[in-house]
Amino acid sequence: MSQHYNSLISELRKTVDDCESQHDLMNVKSKYLGKKGLITIEFESLRAAQDDEKKELGRLLNDLKNTALEIINEKQNSLINNLSLDNKIDVTLPGKNISIGSRHPVSIVINEITEILSHYGFTQETGLEIEDEFHNFEALNIPSTHPARDMHDTFYVDNNKLLRTHTSSVQIRSMKNSKPPIKIMTPGKVYRCDSDPTHSPMFHQIEGLHIDSNINFCHLKGVLKDFIDEFFGRKTEIRFRPSYFPFTEPSAELDIKFNGRWLEVLGCGMVHPNVLRNVGINSKNYSGYAFGLGIERFAMLKFGIKDLRMFYENDLSFLAQFEGLK
Ligand code: DAH
Repeated sequence: MSQHYNSLISELRKTVDDCESQHDLMNVKSKYLGKKGLITIEFESLRAAQDDEKKELGRLLNDLKNTALEIINEKQNSLINNLSLDNKIDVTLPGKNISIGSRHPVSIVINEITEILSHYGFTQETGLEIEDEFHNFEALNIPSTHPARDMHDTFYVDNNKLLRTHTSSVQIRSMKNSKPPIKIMTPGKVYRCDSDPTHSPMFHQIEGLHIDSNINFCHLKGVLKDFIDEFFGRKTEIRFRPSYFPFTEPSAELDIKFNGRWLEVLGCGMVHPNVLRNVGINSKNYSGYAFGLGIERFAMLKFGIKDLRMFYENDLSFLAQFEGLK
């Protein structure tokens, strides 16, 4: 029996040696190892074998098959190695697309807003995300009994520590740490215990603050008018509506005319004398304005995004739309 197998193998070796291409080799492979191949049909003898012969016969047949495969694989490798480089690599195939990611729309808008405001002389301050009640509330004229505390849905870290609910807290840190003139912008994350299609527990704000002698509401109006025109890239109709914030007096909200409708886009006002007093600035010598806005809201208007949650889902097909923007 093994004599027969040996001659099968030497016959196979000879035919394999003669092969000049992968195609030839595949034909030989199927002649010997295909469904009705010369080696495959040898396995049929197992069925007729006596029980005590089966084990030995099975071993011989497996050896036969493995040896045949080895011979074929070896030839296959040598055929590949003998190919010239030009045949191995098809230089006309398109390259692999390497995707390099893109900037997040919130970052794009932060960059754009800070770029515009920097032209008016605002410098960047970041402040702290974990704040205390003094900087987030009390110094901003929001004592613990003040109803405005309810509006803020605060995440408390412990008794006195909290996640800042607005970037207005950075105003306090800056005014305490430096003397007027102060002209800062404070982009950053803020946190509120609130979550639905139009609210997220974490979002971004930017605050502007300008303190100097003789600053008045006209300065505020001028800066915001220019800022809105620059951000939206065209003359935009705006209106100031009287409003209330504990840390500004008078206070206003700014609306813009967007696709024929008035939309509220930011809060602003003249810094309240109590706030100036809380940080040791004499309100007889200095005055200032402040404004605060939600970055996501500006990004939604700019890019026509309808659902706030899109910003936080990390859906690559959504994010890829912003490729190339700075
Ligand atoms: N801190 C306010 C908020 O989170 C926004 C704001 C309103 C900031 C008026 C200001 C301001 O500086 O003057 O809703």
